[in-house]
Amino acid sequence: MDSIVVKGNGPVNGQIPIAGAKNACLTLMPATLLSEEPLTLTNAPRLSDIKTMAELLASLGTEVAGLQDGTVQALGTKEITNHVAHYDIVRKMRASNLVLGPMLARMGHAVVSLPGGCAIGARPMDIHTDALEKMGATIELKDGYLHAKTNGGLKGAVVPLRFASVGATENILMAATLAKGTTVIENAAKEPEIVDLAECLRKMGAQIEGEGTSRIEIQGVDRLHGATHPVVTDRIELGTYMLAPAIAGGEVELIGGRRNLLEAFCDKLEEADISVTETDTGLKVKNKGSRVKAVNVKTEIFPGFPTDLQAQMMALLCTAEGTSVLEETIFENRFMHAPELTRMGANIEVSGGTATVHGVDQLKGAPVMATDLRASVSMILAGLAAEGETVVSRVYHLDRGYEKVVRKFKGIGANIERVSN
Ligand code: EPZ
Repeated sequence: MDSIVVKGNGPVNGQIPIAGAKNACLTLMPATLLSEEPLTLTNAPRLSDIKTMAELLASLGTEVAGLQDGTVQALGTKEITNHVAHYDIVRKMRASNLVLGPMLARMGHAVVSLPGGCAIGARPMDIHTDALEKMGATIELKDGYLHAKTNGGLKGAVVPLRFASVGATENILMAATLAKGTTVIENAAKEPEIVDLAECLRKMGAQIEGEGTSRIEIQGVDRLHGATHPVVTDRIELGTYMLAPAIAGGEVELIGGRRNLLEAFCDKLEEADISVTETDTGLKVKNKGSRVKAVNVKTEIFPGFPTDLQAQMMALLCTAEGTSVLEETIFENRFMHAPELTRMGANIEVSGGTATVHGVDQLKGAPVMATDLRASVSMILAGLAAEGETVVSRVYHLDRGYEKVVRKFKGIGANIERVSN
């Protein structure tokens, strides 16, 4: 397995291009199941998760071509020839469960493995299934698989979500486009990836109103046609790289970044005394040369502070002046990066969903382990500021969500290499 070696090398400076959003692309790709006509996605990120989704769709009958080095995903599903999403793929990537809604809408039946737990939490699917049952589906759990079917197709319904689940909102939104009648999703998730999906579905002929708010109304139509759609910028990759100059010093411009993707996160960076400026081409982040200030962070659904940036923010706060309190409210076990950061000299106390971080003057390089996708990159950020060498193992986590991560950090002057063990 590969490792990434980072040597603290002082301030970073330069520009980083931000790719299309993994979490948008992973919900846009299954939309191909809703139409016999081709769906082309541009600005797609080059990530292993995208390859996994392509493999899954191909197993269902989609013709998939990753063009232009993977930045264009050309998809065509003339017919769904298999309606089972197997455990071995779904286990690897929870987002595989996003084929459930479209498959049910197009074919009237679907068999999708429950994803099983993952490092950051149990991540059940009750919100997805409750809503689809309200739309007329019967869903039975057998041998770890959800067996879903409808008699006569899905029907529009009012579906209140007990929690604004991103994945459930996406599954229901896609299913509702072909349901008979009107569906209203109440307490819908409002993430930019939901808005991106709605815009793509509308290009395919769907009738949707209210995306980006907690109430989305969908008028079902008989069929959807093909479309071409650019994947929205990845706000989590954006926020991750914004933390590089914040933690190491210097000034970096993130090309393609827009503040409205990460308002709460940008506000927190400014509260920590980091400057964030929107330019014509992106977002410029500058460490003013003074030590960052401790800030309190609470992860929330959009537009609050994103849970997917909590681990990265913790790395920054390990070096802050003062004590910060981080509350993780979305997942039940998303502090596995804390013991790894402690190996680097950080001073963190974890109690349930709260981590108290006492800033230290200097982190020290050490061998550390990536435990999940976002925790892996927080080790690299800490390594930028640490004295000496940090070796991050299990970097396959990184390849899931960060394209060309070594090249991007190298591009701003970081001393970083990927080594095969
Ligand atoms: C999406 O996951 C993202 N993944 C996650 O990003 C992100 O952390 C999460 O939304 C929250 O923003 C993709 O978009 C592919 P949820 P999702 O349904 O849809 C509970 C990354 O690093 N829940 O909003 O699975 C669940 O257990 C990944 O890129 C239920 O209880 O998130 C969790 O505690 C990690 N029942 C909370 O809700 C359900 O039926 C949020 O889950 C569904 C969810």
